[in-house]
Amino acid sequence: MKIGTPLSTTATRVMLLGSGELGKEVIIALQRLGVETIAVDRYANAPGHQVAHRAHVINMANPAQLRALIEQEKPDIIVPEIEAIATDILAEIEADGIAEVIPTARATQLTMNREGIRKLAAEELALPTSRYAFAESLNGLRMAIDGGVGYPCIVKPVMSSSGKGQSTINEPEEIEAAWNYAMSGGRIKGGRVIVEEMIEFDFEITLLTVRAYNRNGEIETHFCAPIGHRQVNGDYVESWQPQQMTEKALHRAQEIAAAVTANLGGRGIFGVEFFIKGDQVWFSEVSPRPHDTGMVTMSSQYQNEFELHARAILGLPVSVEMNVVAAASAVIYGTMDEKGIAFEGVDSALQDAQTDLRLFGKPEAFKQRRMGVALAYSNNTNDARQRAGHAAEQVKPAKK
Ligand SMILES: Nc1ncnc2c1ncn2[C@@H]1O[C@H](COP(=O)(O)OP(=O)(O)OP(=O)(O)O)[C@@H](O)[C@H]1O
Ligand SMILES: [Mg+2]
Repeated sequence: MKIGTPLSTTATRVMLLGSGELGKEVIIALQRLGVETIAVDRYANAPGHQVAHRAHVINMANPAQLRALIEQEKPDIIVPEIEAIATDILAEIEADGIAEVIPTARATQLTMNREGIRKLAAEELALPTSRYAFAESLNGLRMAIDGGVGYPCIVKPVMSSSGKGQSTINEPEEIEAAWNYAMSGGRIKGGRVIVEEMIEFDFEITLLTVRAYNRNGEIETHFCAPIGHRQVNGDYVESWQPQQMTEKALHRAQEIAAAVTANLGGRGIFGVEFFIKGDQVWFSEVSPRPHDTGMVTMSSQYQNEFELHARAILGLPVSVEMNVVAAASAVIYGTMDEKGIAFEGVDSALQDAQTDLRLFGKPEAFKQRRMGVALAYSNNTNDARQRAGHAAEQVKPAKK
């Protein structure tokens, strides 16, 4: 394991595919370790562009553009931060030994489509999930629901994220609207949908799972303390760590996370999502990268999820230990459609010495766009949530 000097012939080069708020923090962690960083996104001045050695704007779903940029930049390691990437090119790059893909090209291929990862988890690995079926037409969706999934259920485009195109069906009259909504919200037009039984969970968690080398050069799996979160319309609004849960449920979730991540392979952090009811655990989905709900670790762990990812990628040791009893994060939204906004109330938000802020620096705000996050720690979860929520409320987007 060697790290070179940035901007020299010995540089260790890492390319981020996707440079939003999560990529920005991964880049900062890599910069601190003296890595040369290349940030790629589909628009100029993305958060990660602002902290990397070089920035590029391309359509990452376009195979020719992606391949050309990789050949031009010659990174040692490629770190996908989003799902909408021409992942077949990553498989070629990996097979030709041109660069290492984190965690593996196959993991990025399987997780970019809900069908790939659901079939792997439920059918190949026999892990507990909600009942589900796939459909390609309105009629097919009707048959899937009446043929076994039942009511209430949730419809999602197979290629989508952050709750886009997702809706709940309580009765047959709602099927058509859910189908049309899914067709408008998927990444690819006219795609398939998954329809899932609605799980009546007590709470949901993200179990951050890290695969990293130990001192013997073997891959070891580490679990961060479970992160609880609250979702509104399929998007996270607050998260906290640790989420209290039974010993049995935690153990089961760790077993499942170990099985899924071992199958996906490679090194790095994974966000494994579960629904929990008492001792019962359902696997929901996994992202082979830092997780948005895991931003809370910037306040709660010695090594936050971005530092863990950076270390694991570089083949360095990791520690998932918390440095406080409890912490929380609360999202700050754009609240308006406007370019170059300002933030008022940052000073009030930071009056509480146990809070902190991240403003992502996105060039354009949308009403529902995540523009920042408030963080807080405390000696108990409820207080941490309250402090983070209060801080987030103080920060008011305003026209310049
Ligand atoms: N089968 C289900 N039963 C109950 N709730 C569900 C189910 N599927 C999804 N949800 C709810 O919707 C949220 C978003 O679903 P999911 O994680 O599948 O979508 P997503 O678009 O990938 O979201 P993200 O990218 O933000 O993780 C879940 O966190 C959960 O709150
Ligand atoms: Mg999710």
